[in-house]
Amino acid sequence: MKKDISIAVVGSGYVGLVAAVCFAEMGHQVVCVDNDERKVAALQAGDSLIHEHYLPELLAKHRNGHVRFTTDLADATRQCAAIFIAVGTPQSETGDADLSYVEAVACEIARSLDSYKVIVEKSTVPVYTNEWISRAMERNGVDRSLFDVVSNPEFLREGTAVVDFLHPDRIVVGADSERAGAVLSEIYAPLTTGEYYERADSIAGCCSVSEPPPLLMTSTKSAEIIKHASNAFLALKISFINAVSNLCEAANANVEQVARGMGLDTRIGPKFLRPGIGYGGSCFPKDVAAFRSVAEQMGIDFNLLSEVEKINVQQKKRFVSKVRSALWNLRGKKLAVLGLAFKGETDDIRESPAIEIVRMLMAEGCSIAAFDPAAMQRTEQILPPSQHLRYARDVYDAASDADALLILTDWPEFANLDLKQLNQALRYSIVIDGRNLYDPHVLTDHGFTYLSVGRPAAYPARDHAPISSR
Ligand code: UDX
Ligand code: UDX
Repeated sequence: MKKDISIAVVGSGYVGLVAAVCFAEMGHQVVCVDNDERKVAALQAGDSLIHEHYLPELLAKHRNGHVRFTTDLADATRQCAAIFIAVGTPQSETGDADLSYVEAVACEIARSLDSYKVIVEKSTVPVYTNEWISRAMERNGVDRSLFDVVSNPEFLREGTAVVDFLHPDRIVVGADSERAGAVLSEIYAPLTTGEYYERADSIAGCCSVSEPPPLLMTSTKSAEIIKHASNAFLALKISFINAVSNLCEAANANVEQVARGMGLDTRIGPKFLRPGIGYGGSCFPKDVAAFRSVAEQMGIDFNLLSEVEKINVQQKKRFVSKVRSALWNLRGKKLAVLGLAFKGETDDIRESPAIEIVRMLMAEGCSIAAFDPAAMQRTEQILPPSQHLRYARDVYDAASDADALLILTDWPEFANLDLKQLNQALRYSIVIDGRNLYDPHVLTDHGFTYLSVGRPAAYPARDHAPISSR
């Protein structure tokens, strides 16, 4: 028997908003709470605020029906059986996660709580956060029998967040009480029983009635660690392949071949072995730092994580060196930059390696003409247009009269450029690709010098071999 559960989601960022509309899509009654009045007003008016597939459609479908938006956390607390905390957990100066927003929300929930509630950590938080939330509740006068704290980490990727949410590889529920675990099982029942996938209007993905996602029940601490360990491991995989790509460059080998050869081993798997300019985004950099910091505080030697971070920093510097190796001097050079978002298909620029590289190149005296299909507006807020930075109308406008074209974000459209038009627009036919979007032969056949990551530099027949900077 299907049971609709009233759910409050606190925080309407990438995680909170997606969770709220997806719970609504699963049939629950949802109140999404945010203390930012402008955000709430925009959401109430139907503006989805972030660039995310299916979000506008789901918002249109469920707004004012299964999901509503409010700033009133007290009211939402009283109305709902489960309260998901999805506020930001930014990185503090020491690398720790700053949990002050989580604490503020817990205290406010405590002040309004009048019957048993399950409080769910959805934000990525270090191990022991559930105990701190419990303590904050008790300090604010709430009886221990009136609540449980559960950890239910989210593994969604930006850009594909809705599909990731509705078709997860796994659902992790860390609950130390049976009662709370049962509430979470009910909430996810539309997915775990396969019922959602049977619906004619369900969003398609890899799960199905015959293959619904598994729900893994663990202790709260294990669930907290699963989230940090998963993100840190994925970041490690990226840093590993980036280090291998550097080795390939030195040995004149091809990292794409190496990654394929490694990835075919099912124990390794092909995913997250794409070399590039380093990982970015709102999660990996912050979560690796937070996990390292948690280990340090508990007296565990986890220096491996520092190495992961070190490789990630070096990868951006190496890319700038690569630009220098192609152009000799950087001062006064005019560069076309494709991509500002931290990865393709998102407008998110948090910890974007592309933006860091733009800053480094500007500091070296380059002028930049940048284009991104979705992230220019956000970038302009932190890097306003200037004499040395122009935001272009499109790829070819950015390339116009540039000394080289740099690809910094893996937007699918950047992999399908009109190479003839590009060649005509550029001053010199040089492409430096930080995302390995092209087959080097295709570019050299079109007359380009093509430098990519972990693959031999490719030159058209008429061009000269590289001049070593060493
Ligand atoms: C999320 C998770 O919270 C974070 O732990 C994870 O690692 C990455 O994804 P995200 O959804 O991207 O963060 O956060 P953000 O876009 O910053 O949104 C948080 C929202 O919470 C904002 O809309 C903010 O206004 C709101 N908020 C913050 C509150 O409603 N109350 C507060 O006290 C603080
Ligand atoms: C990540 C996790 O994948 C997700 O499970 C978690 O919930 C939040 O953090 P997200 O930050 O949206 O998701 O992006 P993701 O697709 O994982 O990429 C992160 C960064 O790694 C990007 O900068 C991306 O370009 C880079 N990356 C990814 C690589 O450089 N190589 C790869 O093979 C994969």
